[in-house]
Amino acid sequence: MESTGIKTKQKADRQAASEHPSGDKRFKVLDITMKRAQYRQDALIEVLHKAQESFGFLEEDVLLYVARKLKLPLSRVFGVATFYHLFSLKPSGAHSCVVCLGTACYVKGSGAVLSALENHTGIHQGETTADGQMSLMTARCLGACGIAPAVVFDGTVAGKQTAEEAIDKIKQWGIGNEA
Ligand code: FES
Repeated sequence: MESTGIKTKQKADRQAASEHPSGDKRFKVLDITMKRAQYRQDALIEVLHKAQESFGFLEEDVLLYVARKLKLPLSRVFGVATFYHLFSLKPSGAHSCVVCLGTACYVKGSGAVLSALENHTGIHQGETTADGQMSLMTARCLGACGIAPAVVFDGTVAGKQTAEEAIDKIKQWGIGNEA
C-alpha cells in the first residue's frame, strides 16, 4: 500500500524532470499545476485553464506539451480545447501581443499598457485587427513577475514595458502607423 504511493511519487517526479526544452517560464507554471494534480488525466480542464491564463491563448505547442505530460491523445486535448467556449486557440492575427494582467504586472502599470495598445489599434483584448495583422490578448501571469510589467510579442517575453515601448514595438510590425 505504501509502495503504491511511492511509485506514484516516483512517476510524478520523472514526469516533472522532463521540462519544456525552451526553458520558457510559462511552461514551468504549467508544470507546477500538473505536478500538483499528480498528472491526473481528469485534471485536463484545470490544466488548460492555467495554460490559457499563462499564455493568453492555447497554441499547438502548449496543447502538445499538455497531451504528452498527461499521457492523453492530442485529439482529446484538442477536442476539449475547442469544445469549451472559455478556451481560445491561437489567435488568427499574423502577429500576437499578450499583455500580462497578473497582480505583479498590474501593480506596475500593465493596465495602462493595455489601454494604450487598445487605443492605438482600435481593438479590445481578445480581438484581431480588421486587416488580420495583430491579435491582442491578456494573460494572468507569465511567470516573469521579476520583470513586470511583461508583454509577449510574437511569443517573446519583453519586460518592464511602458505604453510607449509597447506601441513602438507594434509599430515595427506596421500596425496602427498613421497613413
Ligand atoms: S504577474 Fe505578470 S508575469 Fe507574473
